[in-house]
Amino acid sequence: MRIVVAGGDGFCGWPTALYLSKQGHEVSIVDNLVRRKIDEELHSNSVTPIASLEERVQKWKELTGKEIKTFVGDLNHYDFLRQVFIQTEPEAFVHFAEQRSAPYSMIDREHAVYTQSNNVLGNLNVLYAIKEYAPDCHLIKLGTMGEYGTPNIDIEEGYIEIEHNGRKDTLPYPKQPGSFYHLSKVHDSHNIMFACKVWGIKATDLNQGVVYGLHTNETEMDPILNNRIDYDGVYGTALNRFLIQAAIGHDLTVYGSGSQTRAFLNIKDTVRCVEIAANNPADKGEFRVFNQFTEYFTVQELADKVKVVADKLGIQANIAHLENPRVETEEHYYHAVNTKLRDLGLEPNLLTDNVLENILETVIKYKDRVIKENVLPSISWK
Ligand SMILES: NC(=O)c1ccc[n+]([C@@H]2O[C@H](COP(=O)([O-])OP(=O)(O)OC[C@H]3O[C@@H](n4cnc5c(N)ncnc54)[C@H](O)[C@@H]3O)[C@@H](O)[C@H]2O)c1
Repeated sequence: MRIVVAGGDGFCGWPTALYLSKQGHEVSIVDNLVRRKIDEELHSNSVTPIASLEERVQKWKELTGKEIKTFVGDLNHYDFLRQVFIQTEPEAFVHFAEQRSAPYSMIDREHAVYTQSNNVLGNLNVLYAIKEYAPDCHLIKLGTMGEYGTPNIDIEEGYIEIEHNGRKDTLPYPKQPGSFYHLSKVHDSHNIMFACKVWGIKATDLNQGVVYGLHTNETEMDPILNNRIDYDGVYGTALNRFLIQAAIGHDLTVYGSGSQTRAFLNIKDTVRCVEIAANNPADKGEFRVFNQFTEYFTVQELADKVKVVADKLGIQANIAHLENPRVETEEHYYHAVNTKLRDLGLEPNLLTDNVLENILETVIKYKDRVIKENVLPSISWK
C-alpha cells in the first residue's frame, strides 16, 4: 500500500513509518520538523540523541534496502501538500502531524492560537487534498482519549445511543476536553465527520491514550534509528517523565492527589494499531472511531510502579505530590471501551515490570543529557 506518514519525524510517527516500511508498504514521510524547533524554543531536548531525518532514512535503507521518501514541509502550505498528494498518490494518509502538548497549548494566547491553527487548519487541508487528489485514500487520523474528558458514565468508541423524550439516536459521544490542544482534536474530529458525510471520505479517528515506551523492534536496530523520548514538564508524558526523573535521582512528581486515571499504551502497540487501521479501511463516507489504548492507570499507580522497578535497579525513587498545574478533576469515575482494535487483532503489550526496567535501563544510559531545570512543570492552566 502507498502510505503517507505525516509527522513521521516525531515520537509516534517515526517508529510507525519504519514498521509500515518493514511490512512492505511504500512509505513517505511528511514533516516540517517543527518539533525539533520547539526543543530549541523550550531549551529542551530528547533524552536519546536523535539523528537528522535524512540520516535516519539513509540508515534504514542501508540496513533493510527499503526506501522511505521524505517531504519536508508544512501541512498548512497547501501548494506543498498538493505536490505530496500528486507525487505519492496515497492509499492511506496517517496523520500524526500536529502540536501535541497540552501544556504547550496553555502557555499563553500565542501558543493556544498556534496549536489550534496548526492542528485544525492543517487537518482541514488534508481533508481537501484527499477530496481533490485522492478521493479513495483512507485518512487515519490521530485523535486522543483526552477528547472525552472524564465523564461519570462509560466512554464508548466515538458514538453513544441516546434516548431523549421518547426518541432514540446514535450520536457522537459528548466531548469534554481539558486543554486548547485537546480542543483542537475535537474540532478536527468534527471537521472529519462532516467531510466524510459531504464528500464520502473514508476516515478512522484513533482516539489514542497516553503513549509510553521508547523502542520498537525497528528503532532498536541502530542508534541512528533511535526514537525521541521527551521528559520535560511540557512534552514529557506521565510514565516517561517518571522514568527519567528516577534515572536522574529526581523526585517523581505526581500532580495533585494522583488519582487522575488515564488510558495508556506502549509505543509498540501504537505502530500496530495504525497497521490494523490501514489493513481494515473505513468504508466510503464512514467516520469510524477506535479507542486506541490497552490499559488505564492512575498517575499515582504509575509512580508506584516506577518506584518498584527503580528499587530493583538500586535507585531509591521518592514520590512527591506537587500542586496540580492543570485544572482537572482528580477523583473521578473512568471506564472506557476499547474493543474495536482488539477485535481486529491487536495483542496488547502490557505494562510489566520487565517493560519498565528495559526503558529505565536505556534512559539511565543517556541520563547525562537531561536538562534538570526542565523536569518540573512550568505552565499553569490558570
Ligand atoms: N504521544 C502521545 O502520548 C500521544 C497520545 C495521544 C495522541 N497523540 C497524537 O499522536 C500524534 C503524534 O504525537 P507524537 O507524540 O508523535 O508528537 P511529536 O510532536 O513527537 O510528533 C509530531 C510530528 O509532527 C510534525 N508536525 C507538527 N505540525 C506539523 C505541520 N503543520 N506540518 C508538518 N509536520 C508537522 C512535528 O515536527 C513532529 O515531528 C499527535 O497528533 C498527537 O496529538 C499522541
